[in-house]
Amino acid sequence: MWCETYVVKVLGIETSCDETAAAVVEDGKKLLSNVVASSMDLHAKYGGVVPEIAARSHIEAINPVIEQALTEANCTWDSIDAIAVTYGAGLGGSLLVGVLAARTAAIIHNKPLYACNHVEGHVYASFLTEAFLSGYEMPNKAPGFPMLALIVSGGHSQLVLFKNHFDYKLLGRTNDDAIGEAFDKVAKILGLPYPGGPSVSKAAIEGYPTKYKFPKARSTLNQGSYVSALRGASDVRTAPHMRYGKGAQKHATKKSATSANRVTGSARQQVGAIRGLGKYDFSFSGLKTAVLRTAQKECGVTHDFPSFELYGRLSEAQKANLAASFQHTAIETVVDKTVEAYEEFAPKSVVIAGGVAANRELRQQLSDRLGFDIPYPDHKLCTDNGAMIASLGCFKMKKNQQTADPYTLDISPNLTM
Ligand code: KG4
Ligand code: ZN
Repeated sequence: MWCETYVVKVLGIETSCDETAAAVVEDGKKLLSNVVASSMDLHAKYGGVVPEIAARSHIEAINPVIEQALTEANCTWDSIDAIAVTYGAGLGGSLLVGVLAARTAAIIHNKPLYACNHVEGHVYASFLTEAFLSGYEMPNKAPGFPMLALIVSGGHSQLVLFKNHFDYKLLGRTNDDAIGEAFDKVAKILGLPYPGGPSVSKAAIEGYPTKYKFPKARSTLNQGSYVSALRGASDVRTAPHMRYGKGAQKHATKKSATSANRVTGSARQQVGAIRGLGKYDFSFSGLKTAVLRTAQKECGVTHDFPSFELYGRLSEAQKANLAASFQHTAIETVVDKTVEAYEEFAPKSVVIAGGVAANRELRQQLSDRLGFDIPYPDHKLCTDNGAMIASLGCFKMKKNQQTADPYTLDISPNLTM
């Protein structure tokens, strides 16, 4: 059994989407290496991740990426204490490559294996406070508990309250699109390159954030019903629903509508108040549609005009204004709920995690509204990487969490927190 004071070095492997990533982290806080090979360029022309292309790219990249992560960390297999791997959520074919590589390495090199939840992993990027590598801006101290985490990526938008490591409560999550997915879809409407997040925020620099007034989804649950929803959290919130993002193509599995809290039907999503939307739940589908309708109106075409032909009719100024107004509203939506949760639960720290955490407007709005600076992970640690998984693996090891069986560990594409 390991004790908390023992220094551990963990190799983290992450292949849930289009990044083949591996990294070595010491003690959950010190980044020794971080290698990411992305197949993003191969997907760009399709406007989203193509699962088969992603899986094939992982097969080619996985061994060289792992070897490079060990070399850059000045490590051999002997100096690694454990292997941590993402086993869900994500694309089945992609996850399989990382999990099989990790299982094989764990057996051959006789190392303990830790199975990690990708979304939980994103949060652990915030625990990385030292870098052996140059070119990383790290926060100077790890977040304290209780910790409020806003997780915003291509597949997730959720607020989670951590009482401690591995002791957390899901406060809310998206009822439809994830925020990163909304950025990606709006980018498509505006004819901006994939991935949409960075290109929408770049276009937004030239636009007016208040030029168009877009709706923000509001909850219709009052505080009482919200509390009862939380009480029934295990029933309501752990339905096998998982969106994995970075573009429409990535939605290879259909979202399940089994949750009692689920709202379907785009008509209802057009209105500000959405029935069944919990106090800390999100909804971005209506906002995305509002951008589409506004773009159609600006071009003087009807609702049935194809969305993929719109950008050719929009001026650069209109695109910039649509990008800026969309970004402002999307970010304000997540910031509103984070501030509300901060006020209700009074956590010791607030962290933001996932690809959208790289967004400058989010960082700005959140710091302004909370009234204090949040220590952000480096941009390179916000999008998918192996370091966040290695960090989570270190804490699993130090806190004596259950190891996985390297002979049987399976993938879990629809895993939730
Ligand atoms: O965490 P991540 O790499 O992958 C998932 O787990 O989904 O997040 C990718 C998402 C994409 O939707 C991308 O458009 C978005 O993060 N993203 C951004 C920015 N950088 C990446 N969204 C807004 N602003 C950014 N600067
Ligand atoms: Zn991710």
